[in-house]
Amino acid sequence: MKLGFIGTGIITSAVVTGFCESGIEDLHIVVSPRNREKAEALHEKYPDIVSVAADNQEVVDQSEWVFAALLPKAAEEIIEPLVFPPEKKFINLVATLSLRRAKELIGDREIMADVVPLTFAANRIGPVVVYPPVPEVVELMSHVGMPVPVDDPQKIAILRTTTSVMSAYYMLLTVLIDWCTKNGLDEPTARKYITSFTEAMSKKAATWDGPLETLAREMTPGGLNWMELTHLEEKDAYTPWTEILDSILQRVIKE
Ligand SMILES: NC(=O)c1ccc[n+]([C@@H]2O[C@H](COP(=O)([O-])OP(=O)(O)OC[C@H]3O[C@@H](n4cnc5c(N)ncnc54)[C@H](OP(=O)(O)O)[C@@H]3O)[C@@H](O)[C@H]2O)c1
Repeated sequence: MKLGFIGTGIITSAVVTGFCESGIEDLHIVVSPRNREKAEALHEKYPDIVSVAADNQEVVDQSEWVFAALLPKAAEEIIEPLVFPPEKKFINLVATLSLRRAKELIGDREIMADVVPLTFAANRIGPVVVYPPVPEVVELMSHVGMPVPVDDPQKIAILRTTTSVMSAYYMLLTVLIDWCTKNGLDEPTARKYITSFTEAMSKKAATWDGPLETLAREMTPGGLNWMELTHLEEKDAYTPWTEILDSILQRVIKE
C-alpha cells in the first residue's frame, strides 16, 4: 500500500505515525518536504516506511492514496497545479475544502472522501469521520482509529464542529488536576486518578442504554454530586459549552 501526504504538519504527523504503528504489511508512505523538520522526523523514526518527496507532485506520482493535509487558506492553490492521474484515490483532510471543489481542482475520482482524524490517530484510537462512507476508505482509516461513516455532508460538519471542544476538555482536566495539587495532592497521582476517572465515565456512557441524563441525575439527593451539579446548573455553566457550537458550525459550513 502506498500512501502520500501533501502537507506534513500536525495532523499528518499523527496519522502517519498511526499507520506506521498499525502493522500494515508492505506499507510505503511518502510525505511532502514541508514542513521539513516534521518530514525528516517521520523518516528518521520510520526509515523503512516513510520517505520524503522532493515536491508535492512527487507525492502524487509515488502514491496510490493521496492525502491533502494543508491549511485552508493555502490548500486550493497548492492542489490546483498538481497532475492527478485518474487512478489516484484522494483523501481530503482540509475542513474548508468541499469534495465538490476538490473535484473541480483535480477531476472526479472513483474514490474520493473527506475524513476527520484527530491527533490521537497517532495512538490509533478515537473516532475518524468518513464521508461518503466508501468501504475502501472506511477500511483504510480503521487502521488509525474507529471509523464513523456518514452519508451526508451536514453530518460531517456537525461532527467536525464538536471536535472544537477538545481544548476546552483538556483545560477542564488541567483545572481539576491543578485544584488537586493546590490542595496537597502530588501531580502524578492527581493526573492518574482524573484521567482514569474520566475514561471510566466515558466508557460507561458509551454502553449505557438509556438517556445519558439519567446517568447525570443518578445521585444521592443532597450528596457530593448533587452539590456540584446544582452549583453548575445554578451558574448556567453548561450553556457556554454549546452556545459557541452554532457559530463554529456556520464557520465549518461556510468555509
Ligand atoms: N490538527 C488537527 O487535529 C486536525 C484534525 C483534522 C483535520 N485537520 C485539518 O488538517 C489541515 C492541516 O492541519 P494541521 O493542524 O496539520 O496544520 P499544520 O501543522 O500547519 O500543517 C500544514 C502543513 O502544510 C505545510 N505546507 C505549507 N505550504 C505547503 C506547500 N506549498 N506544499 C506542501 N505543504 C505545505 C506546512 O509546512 P510549513 O510548516 O513549512 O509551512 C505545514 O507543515 C487543516 O486543514 C486542518 O483543518 C487538522
